[in-house]
Formats: sequence, C-alpha cells, structure tokens
Amino acid sequence: MKKQLRSQNWFGKTGKDGFIYRAWMKNQGIPDYEFRGKPVIGICNTWSELTPCNAHFRELAESVKYGILEAGGYPVEFPVMSLGETLIKPTAMLYRNLASMDVEESIRANPIDGVVLLCGCDKTTPSLVMGACSVNIPTIVVSGGPMLTGKYKGKNIGTSDIWRFSEAVRSGQMTEQEMEVSEACMARSRGHCAVMGTAATMACMVESLGLSLPENAAIPAADSRRKVLAQLSGKRIVKMVEEDLKLTDILTREAFENAIKVNAAIGGSTNFVLHLLAIAGRVGVELSLNDFDVHSKDIPLIANLQPSGEHFVEDLYYAGGLPAVMKEILPALNKDALTVNGRTIAENCTDAACYDRNVIASSEKPFNSISGIVVLKGNLCEEGAVLKPSAASAHLLKHTGKAVVFENIEDYKNRIDDPLLDIDENSIMVLKNVGPIGYPGMPEVGNMGLPKKLLAKGVTDMVRISDGRMSGTGFGTVVLHVSPEAAAGGNFSVIEDGDIITLDVKQRTLQADVPEDELERRKSGKEKAAMPYTRGYVSLYVNHVQQAHLGADFDFLCGASGSEVTRDSH
Ligand code: FES
Repeated sequence: MKKQLRSQNWFGKTGKDGFIYRAWMKNQGIPDYEFRGKPVIGICNTWSELTPCNAHFRELAESVKYGILEAGGYPVEFPVMSLGETLIKPTAMLYRNLASMDVEESIRANPIDGVVLLCGCDKTTPSLVMGACSVNIPTIVVSGGPMLTGKYKGKNIGTSDIWRFSEAVRSGQMTEQEMEVSEACMARSRGHCAVMGTAATMACMVESLGLSLPENAAIPAADSRRKVLAQLSGKRIVKMVEEDLKLTDILTREAFENAIKVNAAIGGSTNFVLHLLAIAGRVGVELSLNDFDVHSKDIPLIANLQPSGEHFVEDLYYAGGLPAVMKEILPALNKDALTVNGRTIAENCTDAACYDRNVIASSEKPFNSISGIVVLKGNLCEEGAVLKPSAASAHLLKHTGKAVVFENIEDYKNRIDDPLLDIDENSIMVLKNVGPIGYPGMPEVGNMGLPKKLLAKGVTDMVRISDGRMSGTGFGTVVLHVSPEAAAGGNFSVIEDGDIITLDVKQRTLQADVPEDELERRKSGKEKAAMPYTRGYVSLYVNHVQQAHLGADFDFLCGASGSEVTRDSH
C-alpha cells in the first residue's frame, strides 16, 4: 500500500484545521488540486545577496521547480539562514549549528514531503544537510557550482592566490594596487570558490555520500548544465518521495567511508572533518577522527587541483568530473552504497571517462602518493589534531622546533611583524584560543601569515599549530583543530615560548618535550578565564558546542527528532 503523503496531515484535513491550512495557500493564487494529494517538495534556499556565492540561487530554484512540476509534484520555496563566508564576522562557523536548527525546524514544522537543499558557500552545505538529517525525509542536494577560473595578467587565479598575493604584498613583491585589481579578475562570475576549497569539498562530499545526482560537484555555476542538473534533481525528488527513499537509507557507515576516501583523492579541505563528523552525529553513524586517517591512508591524490595542485574545479568538470575521480579509486570504495538516483555509487561512475590526465590522474600514476587528512596524537593534542599533508611542505613533515606562542589572535597581530620577535624559520608558531569556545566559533586563522622578516629572507612555509581552522583554499604545514582547545584547558593551553615541539607526520605524532608533571603543574596554576558571553546565541554556543574531534556540533543537537508533528496549530 502506498504510504500517505506527510503533507496530507495538513492539506488533507477536514474542518477548521484543513480550512486554515488550505485557505492561506489559495491566497497565493494556487488551485486546490496543485498541492492537495501531490508530493509537496520544499526548496530550501540559501539565496542571499550577503552570501555572494549563492546569489544566483533564485534562478536555480526556478529550474528545480520545473523539474518538480514536470514529475507531478508541487514546489514550495522557503528561505533559511544563509552563511556567507566572506562577510560574516567573526566567522560563519559560529552560526553553522544555528542555521542547521533553522533548517531542521523549518522542514519539520511544514507540510513538506521531500526537500531539495540549495547550497553553495562553505557552511551552507553542512548546515543544510545536518538540519535535514535530523528530520530524515527524502532529500536531495543541489550545489551552486564553482566560479569560472579567475584570469589575471595572463595567469589562472583563484582563492588560494589571496594568501600568495597577501604574502607578496607584505614582502614587497606586489603592490596594494595590483592586489586590488586582481579582486575582480578572480571573482569574475557567479558561484563559489573556484579551487578545491571548502565549498567544492562540500559539493564533492554530498556527491560521494550519494546525496546528489552524479556530476553535481563540479559543473560551473555559469554553465547552463548546472540548471539542467537542478531541473533533473527536482524531477528526481518527486520519485524519491514515491519510493520513500530517506536520508538514513543513503547515509550508512559505508557512505561515510566513501566520502572520506573521495576527499583524500581530491585533496579536500580539512573542514571536511568537522562537517562530516557533525553529519554522522545527526544520523547516528559511529564515526571518529581516527576513521579519517584509516580510510584515507591508502588513497592517492588523483585530482590535481589547487590548493594541493595546479588546476581549478572548472577544469575538473571538463576532465570528467567527480565520477571520473571515483572511478579511479572504485576498487577501494564501498561499491554498493546507494545514492539518491536509486543507483549505487559504482553504477553512477562506471561509464565515467577521463579527458585530461593532467587534471585527473590515474590511480596507477597518481598526481601525488600523499593525500588525505592525517590525524595526529600526542601530549599536545590529547584528543587529536589534523594536518593536510598534500598542502604541506615535504621537508617540514618531520620537524622539531622551538615554540613561539601567541596567546590569541590579537597577540599574534600585535607581535608578528615586530623586528625583535625571537623567531626563525625553524621555530614552530603556536596560536591559542581560536578554537570553538575560545574565539568563539573556530575561525579560519590557522594558516597564520609568516613574519615579515622571514618572508623577506625567502621563507615560504613554517610549522604552525592552532586550535582553529584553515580555509580550504589555504596551504602550508599547518596543524589544525587541536583538541582539547586552549579554552577547554588541555595541555595545549599551557604550552609556552621556548618549549620544544616535534611534529612527525609519518608517526602521526605531535609532542611537546615537556614532562607530564610540569604540564600538570602549569595547568593547576592556571586560572580559568571567565567567559564574557552571558546572553543570546553566543552564550548558547559556548555552553553547548562540542570539541573539534566531535565535529563542533551542539551536544543537544546530536541525533534526530524525526519528521512527525502530532499537534495541530489551531
Ligand atoms: Fe563562498 Fe569561498 S567564499 S565558497
């Protein structure tokens, strides 16, 4: 027997309740037959002019609507909190969990049988997927697509060049005026960052988890085929409602393992770790930090994309897209994992072809044998820390140096260019209090710029350690997500100037040469700083955010409340 549509609990009612639910739909000029008895599909839209990466989403939503109508459903578009990476202060990550609550409650509270998630800029993808997971109705993701590759003075550029240009200005190799001219050259079309930063990583994550149609990850935002994919996704979600194909049918442990492996093959962002852990927590799949190391360690880097390589997401699409990358590592994937189109991940990439081996290498001759995200353990990070070796310098992957400690971001900014700062290229830069609680919100400041005096000497990389994050477009030998963070009072909180630290990526260790009893002595003598946040959302955040090794979700948001609402509103 066909399952009754969820929306019938609103529009199929008799009496006063049914009257109210239907009448105010009719005031939009919608005939009764359109929404009564047909699958009602929500289009969860993160369009906002304050999220420039998603500013084309109204147009994309129209394509989704055509598909829904074509398949016999009824589309209802609704807005949710949109998180733009570039404008939001102090960091969009502070609001990821808040946006996920908006998404969850908006879906659950409304007469929606299935939902299309329109996401693009970094946090819009995890927040929407996390929220939808806690409701668990049929769901499909449509990403906004990357910008076209930037062009500046005859060269291809993208977001990763912001860090290069900024260092070039600081070392006097580029003028401020030249850097300003390059802005429009980089951001020359609609879409999210054009490199394999966090937004592209998230788009690859949803495709490899099976939550989008094949090819979703890489079609440029400006390419007409992005709209075709949106229309086909609209068409497909109606069928998913008929099949009752829910998120938990797709998001199995095997799907999460596939996403970790694909992330290694594309050189995806370290932010992937936080977001995947948080999504797993919502659907109750056991996933730990260790899984990221275990499942990515035998996967080579297949995609030659910035910041780990040379090319751009647009090139990835022309070279065969994510299906061509997945085909290369297919023997390592859980082939039977189901995807939103009702086919397995293996079926989706069987016919994929590679058209450019400079962009998508073969698994026999990978672009780099080092890939993935390494999970470090040691007395400096009792619960772990992460590093992306493909974006690091090979000569620093095993390094011992003297700590130069910055207690917070202001301390770093005030002293980094002080000519008297006692630092050289062998030092290890340590930045505290940029973790989930300490900042609060865990900003992307982990790849802190090097001191001017060392840049002038031609130094291009140093080991840097923090409890914060790094932009997916960033690079360097950067240890991130130290857990417990300084504000949570672990060993990291008491590391001092001059302590000797050893990073050994091969051994997966991050160790301070400080005896245990000395660390304990320092911790017992340290007064816990009072949290100045006593009201509003930030107060909720600092009191409930979990540490990075758990995905930085709120403790009370783990798990699901489901899709049932038993009480009416009138
Ligand atoms: Fe939106 Fe990079 S700023 S994806």
